[in-house]
Amino acid sequence: AVTGEADAGGAGHGQARYDRVFSFGDSLTDTGNSAILPVTAGGPFTNPPYGQTHFGRPNGRASDGRLVIDFIVESLGLPPPTPYLAGKTAVDFLHGANFAVGGATALDPAFLQSRGITSFVPVSLSNQTSWFNGVLQLLDSTDITGQRKIMASSLLYLGEIGFNDYSFVAVFGNGTVGLAQSLVPHIVGAIRSVLTDAIGVGARTMVVAGMIPMGCEPELLALLPGGAGDYYDRASGCIARFNQLAQLHNRALKRMLCQLRRDHPGAAI
Ligand SMILES: *[C@@H]1O[C@H](CO)[C@@H](O)[C@H](O)[C@H]1NC(C)=O
Ligand SMILES: *[C@@H]1O[C@H](CO)[C@@H](O)[C@H](O)[C@H]1NC(C)=O
Repeated sequence: AVTGEADAGGAGHGQARYDRVFSFGDSLTDTGNSAILPVTAGGPFTNPPYGQTHFGRPNGRASDGRLVIDFIVESLGLPPPTPYLAGKTAVDFLHGANFAVGGATALDPAFLQSRGITSFVPVSLSNQTSWFNGVLQLLDSTDITGQRKIMASSLLYLGEIGFNDYSFVAVFGNGTVGLAQSLVPHIVGAIRSVLTDAIGVGARTMVVAGMIPMGCEPELLALLPGGAGDYYDRASGCIARFNQLAQLHNRALKRMLCQLRRDHPGAAI
């Protein structure tokens, strides 16, 4: 029943349509990497109340329970993918790998530095892509045919990414979004690179998440409280310009994905 096709029938059929999931992203998808990465080890996600609702203990997830990726693998009948930094051998990654790291940026630290921005977690999408290529090599080092076969029965999940880039820029810029807006094509380009690299090694089914409504995100609201006129309304408590930035990102992302579908009709994106 394992196919690489987009015959999405939903959960509960009892048999996985994919043998494994490879996932990418930031804290919205990280299931344990930032707890291991030296610069972030021992961070907030490793302490209560994280994990208290579902797992009963902190487990490296930036949540009191499960993340979207947990529900996806569960509905596919697969065990959770091994956090990349928690695995070593091919056996560890038989059911896939999760490359997402809390605090990760879409763009490379050097690029952000060129815009005056220092990212505090030195992991970008290019790190995650090279980790992915390493795991694929580990799973089948013989040849590209074997790797393509692995990818044909794998689901690739690219969780939200870019929030950290935008929010660092907004915080450094005292809440202005002009510079953050200028990052949109670069961030969408970095997402495109992950997908084209994956398609190049045989990925056939990819799920790509959009940007969250940044203007409602508690951390950003705490760091950059709005002035009069910044909010949609007092009831929502969301800042309009950050949500507009998220919408700009999502429109650019959708345009890129449309183009990618046209360029790769054999892939389900
Ligand atoms: C990510 O890649 C950059 C550039 O190659 C490197 O300097 C950095 O150490 C990498 N991060 C990790 C956690 O491996
Ligand atoms: C942000 O505000 C601080 C303090 O008012 C100021 O020193 C800094 O130049 C501002 N940064 C930008 C990018 O406007």
